[in-house]
Amino acid sequence: MAKIIVVTSGKGGVGKTTSSASFASGLAMRGHKTVVIDFDVGLRNLDLIMGCERRVVYDLINVINKEATLNQALIKDKHCDNLFVLPASQTRDKDALSEEGVERVLNDLAAMDFEYIICDSPAGIEHGAVMALTFADEAVIVTNPEVSSVRDSDRILGIIQAKSRRALNGGEPVKEHLLITRYVPKRVEAGEMLSYADVQEILRIPLIGIIPESESVLHASNSGNPAIHIEGSEVSEAYKDVVSRFLGEEKPLRFTDYEKPGFLQRIFGGK
Ligand SMILES: Nc1ncnc2c1ncn2[C@@H]1O[C@H](COP(=O)(O)OP(=O)(O)O)[C@@H](O)[C@H]1O
Ligand SMILES: [Mg+2]
Repeated sequence: MAKIIVVTSGKGGVGKTTSSASFASGLAMRGHKTVVIDFDVGLRNLDLIMGCERRVVYDLINVINKEATLNQALIKDKHCDNLFVLPASQTRDKDALSEEGVERVLNDLAAMDFEYIICDSPAGIEHGAVMALTFADEAVIVTNPEVSSVRDSDRILGIIQAKSRRALNGGEPVKEHLLITRYVPKRVEAGEMLSYADVQEILRIPLIGIIPESESVLHASNSGNPAIHIEGSEVSEAYKDVVSRFLGEEKPLRFTDYEKPGFLQRIFGGK
């Protein structure tokens, strides 16, 4: 059975698309047939981060409107054999995402034997974001360690509890995971940024991972490579840990402590 996972947040620009791309890639690298869908109608940047923007011919709305089949619209990822991207439309109106249409596309993907369907949500609590979470089995709530982001994540948790099919049907609730991104241990130590413990205490949902802040993320995105493919980087390792935890493995948190530079490093420089 396919599992539908929405990657969401209240606030924009927190790292949802970056995380959707890396999470989907990580699941595929572990051998799971995965599709990642861009629900951000009008903005469309998942295809850029996945490096497949030049191959976009049809998009999610074309499939919803039956102007194209799923097979025509799905783009095979360039890194992983069992990963596919379903891009968003750049031009259409968000209302084109009808609930029946989205449900049909998700059912058809499940019938194609996809194990994981990752829904990259737009920010906020408008139509597109609600459509991305309506059919979710699990939700990854992407949050930056700052008060406004945490507050908006709390709001989106309320929306998940109120508007998801699982909530409406009164069955098992949507399983929630907290993903903290753009974490800077040095700034936490200096009291300039909330610690992950602070964020967790406010939101009170299980933590699936912490992704450190790194300039390499923007460079990778600009060249169409999901951050999980930046070999040997902390960001890549942190995303791989997230995937492992999602698959039920125990992984201690990494990259969360600030190591003060030693005496010689302070004198002779370093990083
Ligand atoms: N761990 C990170 N370190 C540094 N920059 C990041 C990190 N994660 C995301 N970013 C940057 O933050 C910006 C917003 O990311 P994006 O994934 O598009 O967010 P969203 O989809 O939530 O709007 C992008 O410029 C991206 O490169
Ligand atoms: Mg996005």
